[in-house]
Amino acid sequence: MTILVTGGTGYIGSHTVVQLLEAGHEVLVLDNLCNSKAQVIDRITKIAGKAPGFIEGDVRDRALLKQLFAKHPIETVIHFAGLKSVAECGQKPLLYYDNNVSGSIVLFEEMKNAGVKSIVFSSSATVYGEPVFLPYTEAHPLKPINVYGHSKLMVEQVLQDLALSDRAWKVALLRYFNPVGAHHSGLIGEDPAGIPNNLMPFVAQVAVGKRAKLSVFGDDYDTKDGTGVRDYIHVDDLASGHLAALQYLQKNQGVLTVNLGTGQGTSVFELIHAFEKAANKKIPYEVVARRAGDLPEYYADAVYSKTALDWQAQHGIDRMCVDTWRWQSQNPNGFGQ
Ligand code: NAD
Ligand code: UFG
Repeated sequence: MTILVTGGTGYIGSHTVVQLLEAGHEVLVLDNLCNSKAQVIDRITKIAGKAPGFIEGDVRDRALLKQLFAKHPIETVIHFAGLKSVAECGQKPLLYYDNNVSGSIVLFEEMKNAGVKSIVFSSSATVYGEPVFLPYTEAHPLKPINVYGHSKLMVEQVLQDLALSDRAWKVALLRYFNPVGAHHSGLIGEDPAGIPNNLMPFVAQVAVGKRAKLSVFGDDYDTKDGTGVRDYIHVDDLASGHLAALQYLQKNQGVLTVNLGTGQGTSVFELIHAFEKAANKKIPYEVVARRAGDLPEYYADAVYSKTALDWQAQHGIDRMCVDTWRWQSQNPNGFGQ
């Protein structure tokens, strides 16, 4: 079957496309390259020994989607395409809602018109908001604290209502925790534009000498060592979660909502130490003020993903750092060199 992967040249999409190709699927990538590079397709091809189809285009382009669904025997869609900067979303709410929400609606309408009713959607742990209890189970109240989180929750709601209106829809809402790491080949990995917002790519750029030191955003939280705690998950584990979700959708209708995390919380200091071990280098850092909008601590309840998908994360924080370092040291300028 052909799987349409929107956002397939992005960080999580590219790792998922590799695994889809390796599992024998036909893959068609649709990406407008607003946050990724076309070279990713060559790297994917090198790893998988097989090329995905690639269309440069936007999910909001209805005519293009009509053409794609008419031309290709698409049976299911994995929808990664979206904007994800928490730092930017508050300044550009219309852009974020247009891209993430309106873009998704155009895609779902064209899926419906083409009779394609199976979709895996990239949601986020950010839909939970301030923890009422931890670990976050899938039943935790949903109260996003930023535009990005609202955009994810809105699309979840659209898909819930679509599935209610027509029982033929098969929907997987995957709530990712903090994806890090890279493919073990060192050929693909995260390549943020500009100064990284997120911890792991920043640490990796300090290690490779692109940045002088890391700013640790607060060491006075009520956590194990005072720094922020997150559930980091290896991007290859996240990718395999998508394959597990596809298998689930082959057998089940309706909506599956599931966390993809490890269930383990790692602090900023713990991550720095694990990275120092992986790269055999000191990571210079300075503790600065808390970053506005950051939650002290959260991590997944990973029980339901195991029950529903027979999937669980395999890699721990050491392996995540080793693979990130291999990618960063072999590609100091990401895909851009
Ligand atoms: P990414 O930016 O690397 O990948 C997203 C891809 O979508 C990019 O290649 C971009 O060019 C493309 N894109 C964006 N808007 C598009 C549009 N309108 N039409 C076509 N292509 C478009 O991000 P990622 O980390 O791989 O994230 C993938 C998905 O997972 C996103 O929806 C993101 O919100 C979600 N997610 C990411 C994280 C994270 O921390 N990385 C956490 C939770 C959820
Ligand atoms: N941190 C630093 N210094 C940095 C960057 C981050 O100390 O330079 C700290 C943060 O304060 C936090 C931890 O490292 O305690 C992780 O921060 P990230 O920015 O890597 O990740 P977040 O949990 O803040 O955000 C991520 C994604 C969001 C998503 C959210 C919830 O980037 O897109 O997880 O899923 F919404």
